[in-house]
Amino acid sequence: MGALVEILSWSFGFPPADAEPWLRRGGLDNIRVLRRGKAIVACLLLIPMGQFFGGRSVRMAGVAGVATAATARGTGAATVLMRSAVEEMRASGYPISTLYPATRTLYRRVGYEPAGGRFELTVPIGALKAVDRSTEMRAAEPEDEAAIAEAYAAYARDMPGHLDRGDYIWHRIKNPRGESPRGFVLEGEGRGAGLDGYVFLYEKKRPTYHYDLRITDIVARTPRAVRRLLSFLADHGTLGETAAWYTGPASRLVQALPEVGYTLYLQDHWMLRIVDVKAALQARDYVEGIETDLHFQITDDLLPENAGRFVLEVAGGKGRVRRGGRGRIRLDIRGLAALYSGHLTPISLEAAGLMEGARAELSRAGAVFAGPAPWMPDMF
Ligand SMILES: CC(C)(COP(=O)(O)OP(=O)(O)OC[C@H]1O[C@@H](n2cnc3c(N)ncnc32)[C@H](O)[C@@H]1OP(=O)(O)O)[C@@H](O)C(=O)NCCC(=O)NCCS
Repeated sequence: MGALVEILSWSFGFPPADAEPWLRRGGLDNIRVLRRGKAIVACLLLIPMGQFFGGRSVRMAGVAGVATAATARGTGAATVLMRSAVEEMRASGYPISTLYPATRTLYRRVGYEPAGGRFELTVPIGALKAVDRSTEMRAAEPEDEAAIAEAYAAYARDMPGHLDRGDYIWHRIKNPRGESPRGFVLEGEGRGAGLDGYVFLYEKKRPTYHYDLRITDIVARTPRAVRRLLSFLADHGTLGETAAWYTGPASRLVQALPEVGYTLYLQDHWMLRIVDVKAALQARDYVEGIETDLHFQITDDLLPENAGRFVLEVAGGKGRVRRGGRGRIRLDIRGLAALYSGHLTPISLEAAGLMEGARAELSRAGAVFAGPAPWMPDMF
């Protein structure tokens, strides 16, 4: 534990005392290390989660805390560790894996490709308007935990790229380092309707008596919830200066902002790895009403099981995959990641040198994987 604490705290610039609780929250079973001789020189954490694509949760191995001892850097340690992590994911049946990169080269080398974003919205509270206070918002109680998780999952299912969260992510939302957010909920209409929306947020003091609202999670499931939550934020406008949260360019709350004056910037791209081609293509759903098949010829330098020809047959919103076919669309495993999430169109992938095929084939592939741009609010 001592060596891990030292590597992680130095690598990520946080106090050593924070490292052990973080590792324990991630689960000691989920830590992987690389040793040289007896010494641990590199580590990473695997976080079992899901990620929504096409309306279904696809089992996903999140990767976090990739770190090499400063004295061992540049000697291939992280590459060796990541390679064996991807092989392990494959052996344990994960269809996909996702991570936030501090360098793209390392992760591209083992088959990951940028496949979605995470954006930070900052809006002056004065630019929000309290247009709807007709329904009561109340402070969240511990008993609301299950209803909050249900509201999130019902909302996130239709947001490609959003996490199917586990305890690790919920802990980050409810207990960000050094802060104590409060939760507020908006009940749905009618008994047993669940929650229409909720928000977790804290007030970050400025040197004056003013503050900024930092929102660690916000979900609005209905038009009424969109209006009520934005009004709730507007009601902090006498002392609150700005409200900020992580979101995406086409999120319903961003769309509903009453005025200009906000900023939305790309904080990070996350990278996706298709670990098991067949399992991944079958685990997500597709647009109803499209019936077609795509013949892929895939290259994967690390996982030979993924290489070769596959046919994806799409019908009734479901995908079925079989080996073989004509291999009309030639695709690198990294290209498949950006296609799978809906991040890049086949035309962009062709321009990036990750996909090749006749125009008509590429167009059909574009229709199969078309959807809203993938983004997620969470970081891990
Ligand atoms: C990123 C980190 C894990 C790389 O570990 P490493 O064992 O030195 O990596 P490797 O030797 O296997 O190098 C793999 C590739 O990563 C990239 N890389 C490594 N260090 C880099 C740096 N300082 N700047 C940019 N790219 C870098 C390089 O492309 C390298 O390949 P190359 O040497 O052939 O160009 C290590 O620098 C580290 O612990 N940094 C601090 C924590 C961190 O940023 N973690 C990543 C979180 S996603």
